[in-house]
Amino acid sequence: MFLTKEEKRMLEGKYGNAVKKSMEILVALGNIFGAKRLIPVKSVQISGVSYDNLGDAGIEFLSEMAKDGKVVVPTTLNPAGMDLENWKKLGISKEFAKKQKIILDIFAKMGVNITCTCTPYLVGNKPGVGDHIAWGESSAVTYSNSVLGARTNKEGGPSSLASALTGRTPEYGYHLDKNRKPVVLVKIEADLKNEIDFGALGKVLGEKLKGKVPLIKGIKKASTEELKSLSASIVTYGGAPLFHIKGITPEKFRDPKKEIIIKRKDIDEAIKDMNDKIEEVDLVFVGCPHCTLNEIKKISELLKDKKVNKELWICVSRKIKKISDKKGYSKTIESAGAKFACDTCPIVAPLKGRFKAIATNSAKGVFYNRNKNNFKTFFATLEDCIELAVRK
Ligand code: F3S
Repeated sequence: MFLTKEEKRMLEGKYGNAVKKSMEILVALGNIFGAKRLIPVKSVQISGVSYDNLGDAGIEFLSEMAKDGKVVVPTTLNPAGMDLENWKKLGISKEFAKKQKIILDIFAKMGVNITCTCTPYLVGNKPGVGDHIAWGESSAVTYSNSVLGARTNKEGGPSSLASALTGRTPEYGYHLDKNRKPVVLVKIEADLKNEIDFGALGKVLGEKLKGKVPLIKGIKKASTEELKSLSASIVTYGGAPLFHIKGITPEKFRDPKKEIIIKRKDIDEAIKDMNDKIEEVDLVFVGCPHCTLNEIKKISELLKDKKVNKELWICVSRKIKKISDKKGYSKTIESAGAKFACDTCPIVAPLKGRFKAIATNSAKGVFYNRNKNNFKTFFATLEDCIELAVRK
């Protein structure tokens, strides 16, 4: 792989040990994937931030990098293993909280913006069409590639940190025009009504296309929330972290020759498949990916003058929560007994064994709660999830 004079100096250790290690990671990755060179990135999102994923070995690696490493581009974090302020209320142990705080302090020492969210594009880290970035969380990667037209591969924890410390990434995969071209035309012959229809579409496409980039036709409009839902599920269920929708996403292409048709029955079957036989749900959670302000507003309207009868967690970035506080939505929501889970989510938090069955409006949430937490799942719209939480 070609390296500039400066990059060679970085690799030789002239800019310190963290930069040297980072360059070694990026060059190794570039060589594996046949990259010809490194390219500059405008922003980074680091995933694998929870102590649940990192463990003590991860803390050791990060401490080593933080000895002389400083980020050189705007960098945020994926959700951590707990709400940084409200962890006690959400039942997180003191020992876990201590370790999680150590991790975040190390990131802060390196100059990382301690915004822990999978929707950085809702809180100021919103790349534009053609911007090269190095993001880690799969739904954020898919949303930025597809809806925003930015360019990123799905980076792991070490490679995204390496990009943050050097401002570079190897040029391969979705950074290149040739890999962004759709290869399957998907004709939607169904009216998609809400976020769970879009989540179910992601499941159907992820499973059918197995990594092939689709050009989707037949969707007339889609809200941010619906596109967020599709972005999260398509990649979770085996799809590429990139899709195009005619008339909605920014990149333009000719129709590919190979085509598939998706009908209402495909969507309905996917929804049915995400619903287990459940006697009782003990956790309702929404906000996977993290809620938009619109969703928070809707939840506050649905909870007005009501009380929840189950644990109801609302996952959201701290910045959106603060706006919600100012607008008065948080007060209504908390008065009803619901809990905000800022900076975190039930998938990266240590929840295994605490609940048996969850309700969610997220197809991605269904996948991980089944496979990581062994919970049974009820998949329903935001309205139905809130209704279930208040039902006696
Ligand atoms: Fe975000 Fe956690 Fe879902 S990181 S996309 S809320 S699994």
